[in-house]
Amino acid sequence: MDLGLDGDAALVTAGTAGLGLASAAALARAGCDVAVCGRDADRLARAEARLEATGDGEVLAVGADITDPDALEGFVGETVRTFDGLDHVVTSAGGPPSGSFLETDDEDWYHAYDLLVMSVVRTVRAAHPTIAEAGGGTVVTITSRSVREVIDDLVLSNAVRRGVIGLMKTLSREFAPAVRTNAVLPGAHETGRIEELVEAAVERGDHPDYEAGLADWSEGVPLERVGEPRELGETVAWLSSDRASYLNGAAVPVDGGATRSV
Ligand SMILES: NC(=O)c1ccc[n+]([C@@H]2O[C@H](COP(=O)([O-])OP(=O)(O)OC[C@H]3O[C@@H](n4cnc5c(N)ncnc54)[C@H](OP(=O)(O)O)[C@@H]3O)[C@@H](O)[C@H]2O)c1
Repeated sequence: MDLGLDGDAALVTAGTAGLGLASAAALARAGCDVAVCGRDADRLARAEARLEATGDGEVLAVGADITDPDALEGFVGETVRTFDGLDHVVTSAGGPPSGSFLETDDEDWYHAYDLLVMSVVRTVRAAHPTIAEAGGGTVVTITSRSVREVIDDLVLSNAVRRGVIGLMKTLSREFAPAVRTNAVLPGAHETGRIEELVEAAVERGDHPDYEAGLADWSEGVPLERVGEPRELGETVAWLSSDRASYLNGAAVPVDGGATRSV
């Protein structure tokens, strides 16, 4: 499907691996210039090489920690200068640590808020004037299916990510009609984060091998498998395109049907 994104400019926060990188790759395949940020220099270089090999547009990879307000503002500014504009913002983030309520202290709560909520606030605040000046664009936030149904031992994800949904719904009203704002709610996808968790479970002796460990993550998923990051990325690119021109304020689960609530 031609998404009609050829020549547009997009940025993806925390986009050097996993779901962020898959979203950047889908936007690059659709013809966008794409900028990503992350902290680790090797991951940045690998992401830049992969995106350059993916599409014909320009690629920018910037070292920036999304919990650092100045670094985030710098990333948005460098993207706008390099691409001479900005049409699409995609926000991803690192995953907050797992843990129960009683294991989680104030520092963990505030860090999760900076990582998951303030990173979106600051990115959108910095990007909005340019998107508005260009006559409009899109924002897509990558959150988690935990905003619909809480997941055991993930109190930070369950509680803090809901702030992103409240923010997304607010922006979908304040920024419309020029800017459409939506969210995707991923279920389990086979990114580095899941690979590490599966490998740790195999090492603990919870599973005989990686395949068995991965199969455990697909339990309760009607499609009987975890997602490929590409599948999430393509949903993000579609939401960013005019093919989804009447979607605004939607929180779209991408989870193989794992979420039971409507
Ligand atoms: N994968 C899943 O199944 C799944 C399901 C539901 C929700 N999610 C959520 O979706 C988001 C992405 O998950 P993922 O699986 O794609 O993770 P991932 O494979 O671990 O990738 C995380 C990416 O974020 C970057 N990052 C992390 N912390 C950062 C920071 N402070 N500043 C800048 N960049 C940062 C990482 O690069 P550096 O470390 O080099 O900075 C990396 O590029 C997370 O919030 C996760 O909780 C994932």
